[in-house]
Amino acid sequence: MDILRTPAEMTAWSGARADRGRRIALVPTMGYFHEGHLRLMRMARRHADRVVVSLFVNPTQFAPGEDLDRYPRNSERDIRLAGREGVDALFMPDAGAMYPQGFQTVVSVEGLSRHLCGASRPGHFAGVTTVVCKLFHIVRPHCAVFGEKDFQQLAVIRRMVRDLDMGIEILGHPIVREPDGLAMSSRNTYLDDALRPSALSLYSAIGLARQLAAGGMVSEPELRRRVRAHIESFPETEIDYVAFVNEQSLEAADPVDEATVLALAVRVGGRVRLIDNGRLFP
Ligand code: PAF
Repeated sequence: MDILRTPAEMTAWSGARADRGRRIALVPTMGYFHEGHLRLMRMARRHADRVVVSLFVNPTQFAPGEDLDRYPRNSERDIRLAGREGVDALFMPDAGAMYPQGFQTVVSVEGLSRHLCGASRPGHFAGVTTVVCKLFHIVRPHCAVFGEKDFQQLAVIRRMVRDLDMGIEILGHPIVREPDGLAMSSRNTYLDDALRPSALSLYSAIGLARQLAAGGMVSEPELRRRVRAHIESFPETEIDYVAFVNEQSLEAADPVDEATVLALAVRVGGRVRLIDNGRLFP
């Protein structure tokens, strides 16, 4: 596996492979790999001849006071795991290489970034789209793989790719869960055993909403009330949002229907912000 640290090295690496007709897949990550990341790498492998994984904890998508400094990192372990997965290149730039002195460009998707996480994390999606746009220009992949846990991020990136005619195929990988149902996330390392039942309230809330909808409850306010009451029945949960939205527009869905996704963000134990989502009629 080649490890590349500057945009110029990465672009040269990709260019040489693309010139030989190789199809390149990119898996953008912030590292601290878990099984969810490894599945993204395997999906990338199924869709391309060469797999590039980027590992960069992007400072511009964290607001002041968020967890940038304590975000889990272990690059030695990540290198080992990516190598074992047969990744061809790992792109590990530092912040200075990605945002050199004088950097002042922002790529922003207006409408879709305003909802859900965008409302509670102002500036977050502009940070994401700017860095993903840069990664696309640096790596020049034919396709890129993202997890569906970050459901809004995936919608925003698809919109950016369409709007800017980037010509990159965007592949979504279904949420990978722990055996107890918790959606895998690098941030799960912040959870201790005592918080686990509260963390699981997101997954069980999706199950409850599906059950209610299958039983004929299609009123959004009623479903939202039931889901909120369920999550709030667990200790140390603080709801950021419970939203039933159209999977394309991310606008509120009322009544809910086949195209509705339940999206959740809940702070657990005061400090761990978890997100999860699921189609209401899977
Ligand atoms: O999903 C993530 O890990 C990040 O938001 C991404 C896409 C790698 C951009 O920094």
